[in-house]
Amino acid sequence: MRKPRQIVITGVSKGLGRALVDQFIHLGMNIVGCSRNENAIRSLQEQYPDHHFAAVDVTDRSHVDRWATQIVSQVGPPDLLLNNAAAINANAPLWEVPPDEFEHVMRVNITGVFNVVRALVPSMIERQQGIIVNFSSTWGRSVAPEVAPYCATKWAIEGMTRALASELPNSMAAIPLNPGVIQTDMLDSCLGDASRMYPKPQEWSAAAAEFLLDLQPSQSGEPLSAPRL
Ligand SMILES: NC(=O)c1ccc[n+]([C@@H]2O[C@H](COP(=O)([O-])OP(=O)(O)OC[C@H]3O[C@@H](n4cnc5c(N)ncnc54)[C@H](OP(=O)(O)O)[C@@H]3O)[C@@H](O)[C@H]2O)c1
Repeated sequence: MRKPRQIVITGVSKGLGRALVDQFIHLGMNIVGCSRNENAIRSLQEQYPDHHFAAVDVTDRSHVDRWATQIVSQVGPPDLLLNNAAAINANAPLWEVPPDEFEHVMRVNITGVFNVVRALVPSMIERQQGIIVNFSSTWGRSVAPEVAPYCATKWAIEGMTRALASELPNSMAAIPLNPGVIQTDMLDSCLGDASRMYPKPQEWSAAAAEFLLDLQPSQSGEPLSAPRL
């Protein structure tokens, strides 16, 4: 039986974040989660009344700040902070990506992670404890056509996270994580029908949750990948 830990996850309404919520709660962890979809947040809160879910857009800095203040005062700083929320552009060559969509992907995937780090990491540093995992991708270490904006953000996550790791005390960690390839709405957006050959989030999350709970400060700054199924 693992010791209960305080876990903050962004992007819990669906996909990997949603599956991790179920798995972590099954393992006895305490969860704080956010995403924008209010209905999904309401139903998560009804299903898990002892945990804390909020409709927060990670690109809204003042809302993220208020949410973080609430988290720290109600349950304390996170032991594990998972920056999972992200967006992908609809497949298109870079020169055909609508500028608003380009900006949106940058704002969610890079500025959103910065906003959450900025709001929560000082409370973790005060305790000199905690692990920050920023979700990267295979496309944070390689590239593919038609997803250039998304690739750019995930390469940015790799760099930003490794730089953050170099700033933290040795008792903490910041880790860029490639979760693997999993059948979610995001994968469907870029692969279409081919996404069906990949595991579902519920299949992925059992090994992934254990892997995340086993991360150690000594792994800080290492680009890691979740176990393959
Ligand atoms: N699936 C894969 O194969 C794969 C591969 C490599 C990397 N990843 C990474 O793994 C993570 C999860 O991906 P996924 O496949 O689970 O994606 P997904 O199914 O599209 O889910 C994305 C989650 O992020 C939330 N989100 C999006 N914009 C947000 C915002 N502005 N504020 C707060 N929450 C927001 C969404 O909820 P709302 O819409 O309700 O806000 C949703 O809960 C991402 O970082 C992704 O880049 C996934």
